[in-house]
Amino acid sequence: MRIGILTSGGDCPGINATIRGVCKTAIHHYGMEVIGIHSGFQGLFEKDVEVLTEKSLSGLLIQGGTILGTSRDKPFKKKGMPADIDKPAIIAQNIQELGIDCVVCIGGNGTQKTAAKFAAMGVNIISLPKTIDNDIWGTELTFGFDSAVTIATEAIDRLHTTASSHKRVMVIEVMGHKAGWIALYSGMAGGGDVILIPEIPYDIKRVGETILNRVKKGKPYSIVVVAEGIKTDGKKRVAEYIAQEIEFETGIETRETVLGYTQRGGSPTSFDRNLATRMGGHATELVANRQFGRMVALVDGKITSLPLNEVAGKLKLVPEDHDLIIQGKRLGVSFG
Ligand code: F6P
Repeated sequence: MRIGILTSGGDCPGINATIRGVCKTAIHHYGMEVIGIHSGFQGLFEKDVEVLTEKSLSGLLIQGGTILGTSRDKPFKKKGMPADIDKPAIIAQNIQELGIDCVVCIGGNGTQKTAAKFAAMGVNIISLPKTIDNDIWGTELTFGFDSAVTIATEAIDRLHTTASSHKRVMVIEVMGHKAGWIALYSGMAGGGDVILIPEIPYDIKRVGETILNRVKKGKPYSIVVVAEGIKTDGKKRVAEYIAQEIEFETGIETRETVLGYTQRGGSPTSFDRNLATRMGGHATELVANRQFGRMVALVDGKITSLPLNEVAGKLKLVPEDHDLIIQGKRLGVSFG
């Protein structure tokens, strides 16, 4: 068989480890051929591909980003496309012409939607859940999440020194899109005093009271971790808005930090490397068994797969009864 592999959506740690997992298993274990597709679905449209060999798959385990390049191209979006160009049909035709028996796509929520649409057209496709946001429905974890949490936690650790030395409130904004997974996990691991996530509405006055209560208890500094997806009264700069509001409510000098793209760059953690390897190998097994139209997932700690049409279009948000929230509240962490 010949596999075509592509990466789509934002880059994140663990993509290359997954490419390695899929392709090395394909070559070594199943004797398949592997074609790397450049820049996501756009590469399938333009037939921008390369043959992947054992040599090109060397050294990938620790590398950040994606060796194939990525894009947020959405082939089913009609906007901006000339009316006479049927992009999905051209892509399906190109897949045939390239002799690809199955496309393996590594991506986030948008990619799962696109993959489900191609599956519905009869294209042989398998997907893998990649994102630092951990917001893909149907899988307990996505690769990239643990690495992003590790980087964000280290950043929070480093903010504690300025917070305590200057008796300031330090606000840090982390990514996560509409979900609060990164803020919750890094905030709790980094000892955040206030953690604001989109899933739990907050009251800025209550946040101010929490910070002032800490001062009364002899702790004149606080760490506030905010997810980029929280509501901010229409203001775009989340951390800046929250910092200004806190300073207004408390009168305490408050500074903000936006972690940004450093949290999705660089080498994956050992956890993400192994998750990527397990998920990648499973994806190739699905191809070998001709079980198409499925997304690889982690369920009850085991690698399995789910039908793409069940996964696509759904978001996995933090439940309000998440154990870290329950235990955090018992320790005195405020969730707004
Ligand atoms: O989905 C991953 C993510 O990093 C989100 O956390 C963030 O909102 C978004 O991508 C940023 O996207 P872009 O790379 O297009 O700026």
